[in-house]
Amino acid sequence: MSGRRTYYLTTPIYYVNDVPHIGHAYTTLACDALSRFKRLDGFDVHFLTGTDEHGQKVEKSAAAAGMEPQSFTDKVSQNFRDLARTMNYSNDDFIRTTEPRHIRASQAIWNALRDNGHIYLGTYSGWYAVRDEAFYAESELVEGPSGKKLAPSGAEVEWVEESSYFFDLSQWQDRLLAFYDENPDFIAPPSRRNEVISFVRQGLQDLSVSRTSFTWGVSVPDDPGHVMYVWLDALTNYCTAVGYPDTDSADFTKWWPADLHMVGKDIVRFHAVYWPAFLMGAGLAPPRRVFAHGWWTNEGQKISKSVGNIIDPLDIVARYGIDQVRYFLLREVPFGNDGDFSHRAIVGRINGDLANDLGNLCQRALSMIGRYCDGVLPEPGPYGAADLALLGAADGMIDELRHEIDAQAFNEMLDTIWVVVRAANGYVDHQAPWKLQKEDPARLKTVLYVLAETIRALGIVLQPVMPDSASRMLDQIALAADRRSFAHLGRAHALRPGARFPAPSGIFPRLVEDEKPAAKAKR
Ligand code: MSP
Repeated sequence: MSGRRTYYLTTPIYYVNDVPHIGHAYTTLACDALSRFKRLDGFDVHFLTGTDEHGQKVEKSAAAAGMEPQSFTDKVSQNFRDLARTMNYSNDDFIRTTEPRHIRASQAIWNALRDNGHIYLGTYSGWYAVRDEAFYAESELVEGPSGKKLAPSGAEVEWVEESSYFFDLSQWQDRLLAFYDENPDFIAPPSRRNEVISFVRQGLQDLSVSRTSFTWGVSVPDDPGHVMYVWLDALTNYCTAVGYPDTDSADFTKWWPADLHMVGKDIVRFHAVYWPAFLMGAGLAPPRRVFAHGWWTNEGQKISKSVGNIIDPLDIVARYGIDQVRYFLLREVPFGNDGDFSHRAIVGRINGDLANDLGNLCQRALSMIGRYCDGVLPEPGPYGAADLALLGAADGMIDELRHEIDAQAFNEMLDTIWVVVRAANGYVDHQAPWKLQKEDPARLKTVLYVLAETIRALGIVLQPVMPDSASRMLDQIALAADRRSFAHLGRAHALRPGARFPAPSGIFPRLVEDEKPAAKAKR
């Protein structure tokens, strides 16, 4: 374990042109599970999310809604805050780029870049995709079905010709390549790292960092006819939130550089190329790591507003339950790969992993303690090999889980936990407590105690992914709230025989596959 006990992690800040969907929910969920894990592991965590409110795309959406940009962004930004509540996110801050603290920080980073000689005035003529808020070289464009030029992302491009400030990105190729080389963990997973390195190796062009053809943005200091390029403004949010430009402040020195920027694969270039160059140019340290996860499709189709197949996280939470959705999203897909959302798949996970494996284990063990021991945790006798094997497996999980969370391997983390869940179910089948009850009451006590201890370990390590259900598991073994951190894993903190458990109640109900969806959740 590293000596560093603080952990600063961020989600992308989401554009307020749209209502939140499953993709946004996913990135923030991954950060939430990671934050909760680190907190339980004794870290001081700062978890940031928020909304990206400037730029042409938001300006156009506001106009289409017949609203002023500020009132439009106030309204849409609130949807993202509501999502945070529905999804049970534990973010420490929620930043909006229209806040005064952020405008101050964006102008300060601009001044630092200009003072360090990295910004100059010129004219931009080239292609721009409003949907991506990105400039593209002619060579990157592809021809769309109607003969129109499209960005590689499929976004339409338009020709832009206007006075613009530039950042001297072309000067950063060697420094960036050296930085990637010295920091092999900076970009993950490796496929994204290779993609970024080959992009930078091809050579970089100076980047247009201001616009004059619209006004919805942060004004360029000393030249208010220009607004800052929305990505320079947006990326700076990660610094704003920890006190930039007050680089000597307690907050900034405590949290910067960020430990992790979690992003989707669509925006890796901004985070792994432009952002470290901006930061180094402004005399600031680059973040420690950028993880770019994959893309969700809906029943095999790309999720898009025009296809009309957007998955509203509030709907699926109302239908399946919050922890069921949280579990599914983190378990179904190796983090970093693309994944497909299907109702069949989520029902399969809920019935298989949650109801059959975990739910049954808790239900069987706790109802036997209720029935055979009047709900009082029995005193174990001497342990045999099978008992020690299960207790050892439960205690031993945490080292592997730490390793997996630091690699952002959420699905592997859940696999590791499920190895113990399945071992515990196998133990119940082998030990057959219902027989011991008649044939060997002393042995029965040991077996039920070992099971309660295993449930304790499982409940503790499941808290980051399924906070409500895990805490209900721990309530059922009467574990005090102050004994639920990772420091309390292990035999030294074992449950006290004689403790009285409440009457058990099922935590993970089975679903019937053709069950009618629950009523649509209210926003
Ligand atoms: N505003 C920029 C980010 C600025 S960060 C300084 C932006 N916003 S966005 O609203 O378009 O959000 C993009 C992010 O949402 C992706 O990087 C990803 O994290 C998440 N997702 C959006 N759709 C997604 C899927 N279909 N699947 C998985 N995640 C996706 O880009």
